[in-house]
Amino acid sequence: MKINFVVTISLIFGMLSSCNSKAENKSTSDDKNLIIDMHTLSNYQDLPILNTHLELSVNFKEKKLKGSVTHRLDDHRKVDILKLDTKYLKIDSIQDGNGNKLEFSFGKFDELLGSALSIILNTQSNEVVIFYETTDKSEALDWLLPNQTAGKTFPFMYTQGQSIFTRSWIPIQDTPGIRITYSAKINTPQNMMAVMSAANPQEIDTNNVYSFKMNQPIPPYLIALAVGNLEFKAINFRTGVYAEPSMVKECANELIDMGRMVDVAEQLYGKYDWERYDVIVLPPSFPFGGMENPRLTFATPTIIAGDRSLVSLIAHELAHSWSGNLVTNATWNDFWLNEGFTVYFERRIMEALYGRDYSEMLALLGFQDLQNQVDNSKPAMQLLRLNMKGKHPDDAMTDIAYEKGYFFLRMLEEHIGRDKMDKFLKTYFNDHKFQTIVTDEFLSYLKENLLDDNYRGLNVEQWVYDSGIPKNCPKVNSIRFKNVESSVATFLDGKAQDLKVISNKWSTHEWLHFLKHLPESLNLDQMVDLDKVFDLSNSGNSEILAVWFLQCIKNDYRPAFENLDKFLVKIGRRKFLQPLYLELSKNKEHKIWAKKVYQKARNNYHYVSFNTIDNIIN
Ligand code: BES
Ligand code: ZN
Repeated sequence: MKINFVVTISLIFGMLSSCNSKAENKSTSDDKNLIIDMHTLSNYQDLPILNTHLELSVNFKEKKLKGSVTHRLDDHRKVDILKLDTKYLKIDSIQDGNGNKLEFSFGKFDELLGSALSIILNTQSNEVVIFYETTDKSEALDWLLPNQTAGKTFPFMYTQGQSIFTRSWIPIQDTPGIRITYSAKINTPQNMMAVMSAANPQEIDTNNVYSFKMNQPIPPYLIALAVGNLEFKAINFRTGVYAEPSMVKECANELIDMGRMVDVAEQLYGKYDWERYDVIVLPPSFPFGGMENPRLTFATPTIIAGDRSLVSLIAHELAHSWSGNLVTNATWNDFWLNEGFTVYFERRIMEALYGRDYSEMLALLGFQDLQNQVDNSKPAMQLLRLNMKGKHPDDAMTDIAYEKGYFFLRMLEEHIGRDKMDKFLKTYFNDHKFQTIVTDEFLSYLKENLLDDNYRGLNVEQWVYDSGIPKNCPKVNSIRFKNVESSVATFLDGKAQDLKVISNKWSTHEWLHFLKHLPESLNLDQMVDLDKVFDLSNSGNSEILAVWFLQCIKNDYRPAFENLDKFLVKIGRRKFLQPLYLELSKNKEHKIWAKKVYQKARNNYHYVSFNTIDNIIN
């Protein structure tokens, strides 16, 4: 079986590379049809897992999860080897559902993908039970000491599965190409609550055992666990917030609109299929802004700004409950189907709740990000449908997937009209719910259900398979941003004080636009002036801080470096860290400074972040 599978795959890839006569970044018709996930070593196509049950105890002292996972397979399997993905796991023993020992072996270790675990199924049973533990190399896991939490008393741990990290905490077919239901029993230390991407507890269990069930089938990258001294606060009947006790009130207050967000999302694209929608606000090491774990979005505390100005992130993660979690990219090459759709949906939620003016600011910031991305990346990485073979799928997380994806859908909307577009999307989600999809399937569906003869003039193929931004990319006009741009001129001609009155009414997004629109270099007086009048170096808004600090580094504005140091040590969100460390590494002195800071900070970062920063700083 092993040989057959490998041979089949290499034959397909062999065929692809030999008939790929066009430029590297162009796809041939063959690989457009490719629906095989190249980021798994499992035999998920021959023998997909149907259900998974976890029994794990959380050991903070040894920083490991230990226990078992039981996978249920089809009763009528055609092959007798089960191949799972693993990376840095210690497998103790494997049994069938009746307790009979099963033989297993590991394939060659691959730095990117880990090693295949092959289990020989000489049994009638359709279950395998794997006894295992995680190791200190398990990339999904972040173990925090009490002093890395808000409360400073209890440790904390959480997992990050997307894109290919689930295999480092569960031996599983770690591919978005399958869907499983799951259940779990998690043992924790005293006074700690476990929560998962499943039906969750709302109180600490005095017996320290938590049981979970996820009845809707999900891809394995969405299995998630967090354990800490947590408290729950309801927002409405189906939404609420988990956070450490000292923060939970503040978090719930910040995210007060969550209930309305779910209502608005349902009105747009159909019923919310996951019962509850809760958010857990994690400690600051969390490497992403948000992660759409079903029923329980994982979020960075850096969105808690005090003025509810960064809640579009919640709209985004909520939107994934349709685009991504209900309809899932079948391979990481099709990542834009998850993220581009989600950004479109996110901005529709924001528009419905806070008005077009507001969502257009978000769209324009997005467009600028897209332009920067296009200016700074290789043509092969500028396609919506990517070829990530041999690369880490996380590297597909660029503004191409997000913003080019968004503008593609917006282009369709503007061409076809909003009513038709909304009906189309609603039907698309419904027709594909609890299924996976690749780009080509989507394009066929689009042709059949929305565009018909209109298809030709829209450059659809160019949007998806070519680099750059197509000519028919929608234009975003924001009067609020136009005003900000004239304020930049006012400042450059005068003083920061001249902006005091105007900027009083600015939202975070106007501030971001202002800071991003300042010229590349400002003199020391101008930096001092801005900082003095607006106290930017002490902003309580992480987005503003990150953009301001970037200016500070570019202009060698030393008075801000102490706060920059604190920011880099405390916050583990890669989106903030990466540009800051990159900018710091451009100048010799700054780089020496950055190395020192990084020595203190690295321990506070999740693997996702320190792996990225290691490559910048070393
Ligand atoms: N699913 C992503 C996070 C992700 C992508 C994790 C790729 C691992 C690999 C999540 O929905 C996301 O897009 N988060 C963004 C926030 C959003 C508002 C653009 C983030 O974390 O910055
Ligand atoms: Zn997303």
